[in-house]
Amino acid sequence: MALPQTSKPDRPISSRPRPDEGPQENSLRPRVLDELIGQDLVKANLRILIEAARGRGEALDHILLYGPPGLGKTTLAFVIANEMGVQVKVTSGPAIERAGDLAAILTNLRQGDILFIDEVHRLSAVVEEVLYPAMEDYALDIVIGKGPSARSIRLKMPRFTVVGATTRLALLSAPLRARFGAVHRLDFYDMAAMVAIVRRSAAVLGVELAPGGAEEIAQRSRGTPRVANRLLRRVRDYAQVRGDGRITPQLAREALELLGVDALGLDDLDRRVLHTIIQKFDGGPVGLETIAASLSEESDTIMDVVEPYLLQLGFIDRTLRGRTASRRAYEHLNLPYPAQPEQPALFNP
Ligand SMILES: Nc1ncnc2c1ncn2[C@@H]1O[C@H](COP(=O)(O)OP(=O)(O)OP(=O)(O)O)[C@@H](O)[C@H]1O
Ligand SMILES: [Mg+2]
Repeated sequence: MALPQTSKPDRPISSRPRPDEGPQENSLRPRVLDELIGQDLVKANLRILIEAARGRGEALDHILLYGPPGLGKTTLAFVIANEMGVQVKVTSGPAIERAGDLAAILTNLRQGDILFIDEVHRLSAVVEEVLYPAMEDYALDIVIGKGPSARSIRLKMPRFTVVGATTRLALLSAPLRARFGAVHRLDFYDMAAMVAIVRRSAAVLGVELAPGGAEEIAQRSRGTPRVANRLLRRVRDYAQVRGDGRITPQLAREALELLGVDALGLDDLDRRVLHTIIQKFDGGPVGLETIAASLSEESDTIMDVVEPYLLQLGFIDRTLRGRTASRRAYEHLNLPYPAQPEQPALFNP
């Protein structure tokens, strides 16, 4: 599917991976829980789940991970597998087209293996029907023959674990969601964790950071490790060309300004979304689809990538009637905040 011209895949702060980023991401991925920075609550819960399952010599319960892109869902799935000492089979909702595709995957799993299903909210209904008994009873129902003579046989499967990942929990069907024993939400990382992630990645890449360099990058990475890693690589290039390769706060600021990333990590698209709400729709409320249409952007991009961070900053509010811009958004864009209409006076006879 061709993307519309305006959705620039090279947004430096996009939290979605770029097509060529796979190998680089893998080299920066933490492998075990101890290497994983931040997400303390999720880590603590997973540690208990893993230790208990190992103690009993059983497969892990099914785990659902959700949250905005680039926060570490895929990373966590592999970390869980490493901690359990099992293999991971990776697939995704849209990749499993027919029930037979899933059956083929399931029959190749071994005891304890992890089946990682990315974008699990995009599984089709027929595929989900096959997945339910597999997750619940470790059974595969196969229909043999056609028409009136068709009959169904039930195959026993080894106990395995589904780790599902989604950016849209709300789109997951209720029966599927109910089959996950553990559901964990990944949140944006705080500043301390982001600084630690930039330092760790710099060490892996062999890049030297001057004091304050990591902070400068972390501050503009919108609480998202994938963005931090990408900005770190861009700043490294800049520091190599314009300096001696060492990342100083000054060089980091210059490099990020050149990329159009502002002090809070907002880029051109984020600012255009805010300008649209404020200037075209008088501060809102305005529906997300309308915002996307007036910017000729995909509403998925706005919903997955732009909105969560603007919400997190408190720049927009989500109301039943749509999105509104807050006073802080006006201030960030240096726009005057309109006087709020007075409460209508009570009718007093
Ligand atoms: N806790 C962490 N500590 C250090 N680095 C991390 C952490 N979480 C994620 N990363 C880094 O961020 C990158 C993106 O993470 P990951 O691919 O797991 O995100 P994701 O949530 O699966 O995103 P998507 O929704 O797009 O699939 C990884 O390459 C990894 O290097
Ligand atoms: Mg992923």
